[in-house]
Order: sequence, then structure tokens, then C-alpha cells
Amino acid sequence: MCGIFAYLNYLTPKTRHEVLELLVRGLKRLEYRGYDSAGVAIDSADGKDMVLVKRSGQVKKLEEAIAEKFSDLCNEEQIDIHCGIAHTRWATHGVPSEVNAHPQRSDDHHSFVVVHNGIITNYKDVKTYLTMHGYTFESDTDTEIIAKLIHHLYKQHPQYSFRELVEQVIQQLEGAFAVAIKSKHFPGECVASRRGSPLLVGIKTKTRLATDHIPILYGKVPLLPRTESTSEFMPLEDKQVEYFFASDAAALIEHTNRVIYLEDDDVAAVKDGALSIHRLKKCLDDPHAREITTLKMEIQEIMKGNYQYFMQKEIFEQSESVVNTMRGRVNFENGTVTLGGIKDYIPEIKRCRRLMLIGCGTSYHSAVATRQLLEELTELPVMVELASDFLDRNTPIFRDDVCFFISQSGETADTLMALRYCKQRGALIVGITNTVGSSICRESHCGVHINAGPEIGVASTKAYTSQFISLVMFGLVMSEDRISLQQRRQEIIKGLAGLESAIRKVLKLDPLVLEMAKDLYQHKSLLIMGRGYNFATCLEGALKVKELTYMHSEGIMAGELKHGPLALVDDSMPVLMIILRDPVYAKCMNALQQVTAREGRPILICEEGDEETKSFSSRALEIPRIVDCLQGILTVIPMQLLSYHIAVLRGCNVDCPRNLAKSVTVE
Ligand code: AGP
Repeated sequence: MCGIFAYLNYLTPKTRHEVLELLVRGLKRLEYRGYDSAGVAIDSADGKDMVLVKRSGQVKKLEEAIAEKFSDLCNEEQIDIHCGIAHTRWATHGVPSEVNAHPQRSDDHHSFVVVHNGIITNYKDVKTYLTMHGYTFESDTDTEIIAKLIHHLYKQHPQYSFRELVEQVIQQLEGAFAVAIKSKHFPGECVASRRGSPLLVGIKTKTRLATDHIPILYGKVPLLPRTESTSEFMPLEDKQVEYFFASDAAALIEHTNRVIYLEDDDVAAVKDGALSIHRLKKCLDDPHAREITTLKMEIQEIMKGNYQYFMQKEIFEQSESVVNTMRGRVNFENGTVTLGGIKDYIPEIKRCRRLMLIGCGTSYHSAVATRQLLEELTELPVMVELASDFLDRNTPIFRDDVCFFISQSGETADTLMALRYCKQRGALIVGITNTVGSSICRESHCGVHINAGPEIGVASTKAYTSQFISLVMFGLVMSEDRISLQQRRQEIIKGLAGLESAIRKVLKLDPLVLEMAKDLYQHKSLLIMGRGYNFATCLEGALKVKELTYMHSEGIMAGELKHGPLALVDDSMPVLMIILRDPVYAKCMNALQQVTAREGRPILICEEGDEETKSFSSRALEIPRIVDCLQGILTVIPMQLLSYHIAVLRGCNVDCPRNLAKSVTVE
């Protein structure tokens, strides 16, 4: 939710034009996080004031406004030291508008400007306090109170450093946030902090860094006598350095692969080109330093290449991403599976009372998709839970529970809160994420990186199939020493070995799916029916259709048809049915007959060459035969393609569907 990007160049001359280009490019990389308004703040030409440009709508609108406002900027001289901050917003408090866009400011003179991601839950109390002290507010945002509270403290304590002011302010804030702040009173400085929302610092230097660790400064009450920092990061003798603050690595990777993942309540400050990280409290097991991590991501991974949309690229990448998920884990020669991230915990997991799989949206569907197999391979009770509902119910959790938290981003607030809830109750926490260094990764006892590569399209596609495979691999690890399950395990491993080519075959259905999309795109609704291993595909397919095309769609468990949904079926209702030669085939055929008897004309997803099933419909998508528990990986792909094509035909913004964001870091 929302994207923060800030850039500080120290003794690395840049024109303001170059700085603006850099900020806008950073925002474009983060746009999937929120895209209803955007803004930037840079220094004025004389360096004595600031200029804010904000626009409603996508970053493109902001880019146009900047081009118009600064048409003569190219000829300006370079500036040695400068700090600019930028933001792309997903509205929570206040409608998307120019005034509610970030940066938010403390006053007309731009003493302090703030970009913020998250929600300040006690903003009303702070607002009342500030109003009593004569402040008036121009926006409806919770963010504005941050800028004004810093200003208020600054006026009371002009002797404090920028970092100390921010530290004071964050102590007053409740809720989740990541912030980057710039001030007219502290030129060439930037202070950033986080609690519950991700924030990274990227460091770019011309020569090798002197250290891989930034020592952390701990201090109790920063407003009292100041300790001189001995833990600053001044990388090099020439002191030339550029710093980037961003909500995720995708925005940084084209500039540097050296990053620090900030932890909750870290305050990172750059002053005179030196970076320091400060925390107010030191706990016993707190580290002494934050490590500089080298990102493995490649810039090509976040480029669209020849595809029209990221989502389309990500759908087509699945033949490779599933292989990456299995790489180094599944040994196809000797039929063994190793998951390094959870290996040491397997004995403990085997002794557990039950497995709980918890997630939201698509990640939840991956749990639904693999539940049956996990029950079979682990012989344990497996519960699947939507994180929000799980928390609403105050679900009982025990020390001998093992709780899996599945999340592409690793930052989803509901999932993260459910994780903390289970951790407090002593359960073993296993993270299944796609984002190295994310909150869920860091807060889990152990876990599996799904290694699907960056997923930029808001609609999750390749992360789903990789989550699916990660859970299947977990089941295989758990059943390694079960004699009775060996044949089944080998059947599944054989299925995994054939996945890449099976997915390639399914992707070849694309032109046929496009033709079907042309028949469907003007309809209001689409029902998707199936059962057994394919019920999850129905739920996931319907979610894809809803979020991308804004059409109504429902995933229906075929066994439930006669208990209500059958009333919706007639000759004009679009229906898609998944009918494969698996243990529920006869039951699915029964459902198909119920639909055709009501003059329904379903599109079928069936197995290659299954003429008997195909004879019930004039439209069918044939997928390769594969072991039953992996069918869901193949059946979901036509659904991803179908929703994609319908969205394009309906003129929807495929990568940035309305009202949504990629990483939902608010409850
Ligand atoms: C999927 O297409 C959605 N955009 C959404 O349901 C998503 O899966 C959900 O918000 C969970 O996100 P996560 O996997 O990053 O936790």
C-alpha cells in the first residue's frame, strides 16, 4: 500500500532535472503498490525553499505536471548535495486528490515534508492536540499530523537534530508506518523510519564499501544530552555517495544492489553524507549492526520485455518460475526433496497437533489447493484459514501447532498480525514467501522462499503456482519415510518433473482463450465450477476475473450446485466447468449434466483427448494429463489468461486494477 521513494546525493553532482527523473522512475517501479495519486518534493532553485508537485491519478500524470512546471530545468547547474522525496498513494484517509497526495507539509513554508505508507491509528488525538496549538489542516490524511508534529517540536526545541525530532515524533505515533522526511531547516539531510511497513535503504558508491555493517546506535531519551554518533556509515575517502529509500527493492535495483532492510522502529538518518541507524530501546537479543545485503535480483526481472503488461509476462514466465521454485530442492534422479529452510524443524513439525495454513486472497487459495494432498502425505489435520477471519475469531492456538503463513509480498498486514498472534501463543511459525527480507520472512522461525522472482502485476499469478509447488514439496518432505506412500510420492515427483513442458503446452492455448474472452467480455457474470483438487482453481479464477475485469464472478464447489447456485443457470449465464479424469470425475459429470439440463452452455477445461467429456460442449480447453494433485497448476493458467484477455477487451488497467494495491499493509 503506497510507495515511498527518496533520493539523496552527497558530493555526487546532479541537476534538479536529473533528480526529478530519478524520483519519477522510482515511483513508476513502485506504482503497483498504489496508484491513485502521486507527488514529489525537491529543493527550490536557490535551495532556500522547497517545491512540491502533486497530482491525482497515476504517476504518468505527475510526470506530465513536472514536465510542464519545470520545462526549463535542463539548463540548470548541478547541485552537489540534495535530497528529494516522492510517493505514490493508495488512499486510506481522504479521497484520492491533489491535496491528499503526499508529500504532506507542516506549513506553507515547507519546514518539514513527509511521505508516508501505512495508517496512523491515533491521528485524531494528535490532530486535536495540534489544533489546540494553533495548527490548521489542509488535507484529510493521517499523514499531515506527522509533518505538523515535527514542526511543533522543532519550534519548541530548535537545538535538536533532525533525527532526534523524528525519534520524538514516532514515539507518539500508533499504527503502522514507513516514512521519509525532508526539511528546509536541515538541507541535504533525510530521515526515515518504519514500523509495520517495509522500507529499505540503498547505498551507491563509486568504489567498494569499507564495511558491510552499519552499527546501530541505541539511546534512551534522545531529547536529553546528545551522544555523538560513533556509528555512522561514511563509506569512502572521497565521500561521494548516493542513498535511496524505497518501499521495495524493485525501485532500487537499477541503481544499486547494496541495501539495508530497516527493522521496526529503526530511525535511519543521513547527515553530511553519513548514514546512521538509531533505535530508542535496546533489547537483549538486538543485534549491534544492520547488515548491508547484496540483492540477487536482476533489472531484467522487473522489466516488461516484449509483453504488453507485467501480468501477461508473469503468466508466461510460469514454465520457468515453477522450475526455479524446485531448483536445488527436488532431486529428480533419486526422487528426494530437501527444503533447506525448514530441514532442521521437520522432526518438530512431525510431532505437531495440526497444521494451519494461513493467508489472504490468492495466497489463501494456494492453501486450499494443497490441503487435500497435505492431509494425505502428512496424515495430520490441516486447517486452512483466511488471516482476517482467523483473527476475528480469536482462534485457539497451541504450542504444538505448526502455522504456515503464505504471502507473496511477505508484508500483508492481516497475515503478519495472524503470525504474531500465533507466535505469542508458542506455535512454530513457518513462512512461505516470495520476498526475501520481508517482515514475514524475518518473523518466522523457518520457511521456504518460493523463488518465483519479482511479481509486479497486482494480480498474483506466478506466485500462486510457486506457492502451490512449495507446499507440495513440503508434503513430500514430510512423507519421505512413509513406506506406504512411496509410490504416491514418486508419482508426484514425476509430475513435478513434467510440469515445465505441461505448462508450456497450456500456454499455447492462449489464442483459443482469447477467442473465448471475446465471447465473454460483454457479459456481467461468470460462474466457475469444479471440485476436489480443482476447487481452488475455481476460487482463484473467480478472484482473477473480479479483480481484473470488474465483472462478477463466483467460484462454485460443484457439489454445492444443487444446494443453491443451480438457480443461476440458464442459457444466458456464462459457465466454465473443470472436469478432469480424477477421483471426482463421475461427480463432476453429474454436475455437468445438471447444468446442461438447464440449458447451460458451459466452457469446459478437460484432459487432452477426452472426447466423451468434450461431447457435452462446443467449447473446450484441453490440458495435458498430469497426476491429480498437480492438476490445479495447469487448470489455473487458462483462468489467468482468460481474466487477462477479458480485462484488455474491457479496457481495464491490467497491472493496476482500480481500488487495489499489490501489497496490502493495512488491516
Ligand atoms: C491476488 O491477485 C490479489 N492481488 C490478492 O488477493 C493477494 O493475493 C493478497 O492480497 C495477499 O497478498 P500476499 O500474497 O502478498 O500476502
